Amino acid sequence: MIAYLAPEKFLPELLSELKDVRSVHGNLVLTEGPIQNSVWAQNIWLNAEIVPFKSITEAAKILKSRGLLWALYSFENHRRAELIQDQLPKLRSRVLNFLDELPKDPLGAWTLLDKETLLLSSETNSLFPRGEVAFNEDKLTPPSRAYLKLWELLTVYGVRPSAGDKVVDFGSCPGGWTWVLQKMGCHVISIDRAPLDEKIAKLPRIQFMKTNAFNINPQDLGKIDWFFSDIICYPEKLLQLVKNWQNSGLCSNFVCTIKFQKETDFNTLKEFQNMENARVQHLYANKHEVTVWIKSQR
Ligand SMILES: C[S@@+](CC[C@H](N)C(=O)[O-])C[C@H]1O[C@@H](n2cnc3c(N)ncnc32)[C@H](O)[C@@H]1O
Repeated sequence: MIAYLAPEKFLPELLSELKDVRSVHGNLVLTEGPIQNSVWAQNIWLNAEIVPFKSITEAAKILKSRGLLWALYSFENHRRAELIQDQLPKLRSRVLNFLDELPKDPLGAWTLLDKETLLLSSETNSLFPRGEVAFNEDKLTPPSRAYLKLWELLTVYGVRPSAGDKVVDFGSCPGGWTWVLQKMGCHVISIDRAPLDEKIAKLPRIQFMKTNAFNINPQDLGKIDWFFSDIICYPEKLLQLVKNWQNSGLCSNFVCTIKFQKETDFNTLKEFQNMENARVQHLYANKHEVTVWIKSQR
């Protein structure tokens, strides 16, 4: 069996994409059959099994016999679960710095289905407890917390522009993403209808254009190495913008946030998912939005 953990508030989205659902436990969805592509799963439990037990010590023994390091997902019976977790090897903090190497030791995951039943998986798809990627944040320099989305993508998923790359940052105000990209040594064309934070605007290698992103022709900017967008707009508008740039042949790497209004726009989401070489994922730092990154074969 495979279990998928939904991010807080996005269980309906996860349920809408999963087939062969067997049961739901808090935000954890247990399925039959092979692994499924999932945009919304924050953590996937790859070899889930259900194991009965009688005592706290027995539960800890079962877990220890199957793996070294365990992260708890607790949705009820919290106290009992904590007492079991206390008997397992201590999990050291996995808080990252930007572009840190990732932890090496894999993590298992477990929960209590009831007082005497474990749901456990010795393998998961994330090196972070419950897929929660935490950073030592920079609370001084970046003018918004949006930079955490880019930190997560670049650090955990290995998407990396290089120093000297020419990048466009659409919807850049107040400047968190522009700051990250500038710090990596990129030349950033930073575009927004609103102004950049002053201290970001003063940094070298940033050219700010105060304009509507949808009025720019790719030919106006010429060849670029990366297209970044965190614009607040309808998903279909973003899709048009990305396609326009793809068709121009002037850019091959794309990173965008697809932002949803009240309802999740599953149709446009599917169109992004179907694009060649696209990966779409709800990052830990994403709110009601997902991140798409595309490396075209040009
Ligand atoms: C979530 S904020 C971006 C935050 C930014 N990535 C950061 O790290 O600070 C979204 C931005 O999209 C901009 N925006 C919305 N529509 C736009 C358009 N048509 N053209 C340019 N910018 C737009 C807004 O002005 C806003 O600053």
